[in-house]
This record gives sequence, C-alpha cells and structure tokens, in this order.
Amino acid sequence: MDYEPQGAKIVTPNKNVGNMPADHARNGFYGQDILSVSQFDRQKLEYIFKVAHEMRVLVERFGSADLLHGKILANLFYEPSTRTSSSFMAAMLRLGGQVIPINNVQYSSVTKGESLPDTIRTLESYSDVIVLRHPEVGAAATAAHYAANPIINAGDGVGEHPTQALLDLFTVVESLGRIDKLRVAMVGDLKYGRTVHSLTKLLVNYEVEFVFVSPEILAMPEDVLNVVREHGHSFSVTDDVNPVIGEVDVLYVTRVQKERFTDLAQYDRVRDQYVVDEALMERAKRDMIVMHPLPRINEISYGVDDDPRAAYFKQMRNGMYIRMALLAAVLGKA
Ligand code: NCD
Repeated sequence: MDYEPQGAKIVTPNKNVGNMPADHARNGFYGQDILSVSQFDRQKLEYIFKVAHEMRVLVERFGSADLLHGKILANLFYEPSTRTSSSFMAAMLRLGGQVIPINNVQYSSVTKGESLPDTIRTLESYSDVIVLRHPEVGAAATAAHYAANPIINAGDGVGEHPTQALLDLFTVVESLGRIDKLRVAMVGDLKYGRTVHSLTKLLVNYEVEFVFVSPEILAMPEDVLNVVREHGHSFSVTDDVNPVIGEVDVLYVTRVQKERFTDLAQYDRVRDQYVVDEALMERAKRDMIVMHPLPRINEISYGVDDDPRAAYFKQMRNGMYIRMALLAAVLGKA
C-alpha cells in the first residue's frame, strides 16, 4: 500500500493513553508525540531534566519502580541500534512496564512488504506508546499521523534524533552546570548526522556560540543553519579542529555516517579526517567536555576514555534516565 509521508505534526492532540490524570495534565507531554526538538522550549527542557534527575535517584536507590505497571512499549527499529533501543527498553522495564521489542524488522511482516502505516496500526493495538527508528526523514511524523498512541522518534534517517539531543543537553548541564555562554564545537559528519541536527536546534534556546567543524562535503545543512540564524546566534564554520580546540567548552564529535553515502570512495576520503587523541586533548581547556553520541569508529582514541573530560559514557547512561522521564511524561505519570 502506498502512503503519503506527512509533514512534521508538531502539536498533536492528546492521544489514546487513557483518562488524563488531573495532576499530571499540566506537564504538556501527556498523550503527545515526541517527533522533533522544536517541540521543546526552556521550560519544557527544565521539566524533563528535573524528572530525569529524579529517575536517576530512583534507579540508584531502588533500581526500579512500578510507575508504568500495566503499560506496554512497542520498540520498533528499522535501522541498527544498541544504545537507543536498549535504553528505551531498560527505561520501560525499570518503570515496571513491558516491551514488545522489534529490533530486527527482517523477522517481522515488514519483510513481506507491509507498509509503515499498517505496521504502526498493528503495534498500536497491542501497546500504549511506540518508539520508532526508521531510515526515512519524516517517518516518525507519518507514523504519528496514523497512530492513536504517542510516537517517539528514535531517529528518522538524516532528519532528527530528539531523544539523543535531550540526553546530550542533560549531560552538558550535569557536567558543566550551565548551557548559556558556552562555546560548542560540533565535529565530523554534520551533513548526515541527525544527532547534531537535533542538538543544534535545541541549543538555539540558549545563549551559545556554535563552531561547525567538518569537511566541506559534510557541512551542516542550510535548513539547520537557518534555525541558528533565525535565533540570532553567531556561528563559525571551519574544516580544521586545531585552531578551535583550545577555545571550546563542548567538543561534540560524530561518526562519519557510512551508511548514508552513495559513493564509498568519497566516504574513504573523509572517514578519518578528525581523530581526537591525547595530544589534541592537551591543548583543550581544563574544564571542557568531549561528547559523542556513539558508536565511535576512529574519531576518539581509546586513550581519551580515562580523561575526566570524556563525557560520552556519561551520555550513554543519561539516555536511560531521559527516556524514563519521557515515557513517564507522555503516559501521564511523571
Ligand atoms: C546515533 C544515531 O543513531 O544517529 N547513535 C545513537 O543513537 N546513539 C549516532 C550514530 O549512529 O552515529
């Protein structure tokens, strides 16, 4: 069956998540899809970070809770994932809910040619919330159009990865105590990397200075730069990390997204252009952090892992707390 991808539907009515509990109605997330970071302003971000912090305390003290007891998450991944998929699962399980894991769509009816809308319609009949990763930009918005349950975008091709950006920002606040007045450099594949698209669009809510470091062919797309411009932020663009390393508070490193290249010879030319190693870190500020959404290939050498400024494993752990907060919020239990 053919279907028309829908434009991003940012404001969606409350979906089919049961009667709205009066005391939870005000969080603004109840019954909502999470499709794009443009749904978040500073107030909403602070709310999610506060709940994520509470989730961390909960996990450290008790391991789990029964907040989402009786709720079911359908975890539907059309692209590979380790952290996003398992942290959503862990988040649901730690809150007492259950998960239908579809990590391998080749073993589902997708292989028989089933369309995304039909797959979504099927899963919504068995679950309360659906997490979706898909190779097409706009797939989460399409799914949200068809689903009565909330859809959470876990990455739509080269489009967005909103939950990653939330955990990234949460890690910045936790590590540096603030977001305003920071100089943030994003390095690597800014063209195909959906994490940097979402993170940039989220950071425009704060007073940050952007530095975009990439080979020319992997530059940050104009539509993302336009969001930066519209919010009146200054940014600079370069292909060399050396002149900026000593001046940044956050160095956000990304993998060159091999799977998005049509010409692999082109990939080979840019794959190892940036390697953050101990020598480079010697020239970085004492109180900066190095981030990476992971998986890393060669972009950060293993020698950097023990540097107190390496924040990428912290990001990974924070993913579960942020996703616990989001699941609780959209299901009206935060
Ligand atoms: C990222 C993704 O899938 O976009 N991974 C993740 O979710 N942590 C980054 C990447 O694959 O390079």
